[in-house]
Amino acid sequence: MIKRRLGPCVTFFPQPTTLLTSVDAAGKTNLMTASWVGVVSKTPPTMAVSLHRERQTLVNIRETGCFVVNVVPASLMREADFCGLRSGRQVDKLPVTGLTLKPAAHLPVSLIDESPLNIECRLSGEVKIGDYRLLLGEIVEVHAADEAFDAAGSMQAQAIDPLVYLGGIREYWGLGARVGTAYRDGLDLAAEDKEEPPK
Ligand SMILES: Cc1cc2nc3c(=O)[nH]c(=O)nc-3n(C[C@H](O)[C@H](O)[C@H](O)COP(=O)(O)O)c2cc1C
Repeated sequence: MIKRRLGPCVTFFPQPTTLLTSVDAAGKTNLMTASWVGVVSKTPPTMAVSLHRERQTLVNIRETGCFVVNVVPASLMREADFCGLRSGRQVDKLPVTGLTLKPAAHLPVSLIDESPLNIECRLSGEVKIGDYRLLLGEIVEVHAADEAFDAAGSMQAQAIDPLVYLGGIREYWGLGARVGTAYRDGLDLAAEDKEEPPK
């Protein structure tokens, strides 16, 4: 494969499209679009989100110590893009989007009801990276839309329909087709032990 060098840049994809919900000390909720988000530990279950130091969301999370990562379905692309274009310092984004808040189960912050997957996080650490702050959040609850489960109790990705962000080229895409089963299909290449997938 012939490659072009792009230099040290942030072209990387796919990334998730999420809306972070946070609340300030007075109880006002803010929405912010974030794609630099991921699960970074299973024990303890932890997410990391990377926020520019000027985000209102960073102020809120430092004040109240909690946030929710709301997965954005493709149907909410415009609302999510808007929440990435304006700061809560300038405008109350919630009424503009028409999205609905629901209280979280364990923390004093809200979920976005229209998001099919919400992860409640308690702030557990902060790392400075230049202009950014990598926030670690211990996952205290995950809420998944009931309609995303089939009769056998398996989660159906099409029902979540997550909006995929392509960083660097600034495009939103849909999920695309299922191509395999993780921790299993690679066993075809393992000549020895095809019994147990790694934990
Ligand atoms: C698709 C997309 C992804 C984004 N991801 C991030 C991110 O991960 N971290 C960040 O600091 N800003 C990110 N932004 C920019 C913020 O969403 C934007 O600056 C927003 O206005 C901040 O809102 P706030 O000041 O109300 O917190 C993203 C914007 C878009 C459109």
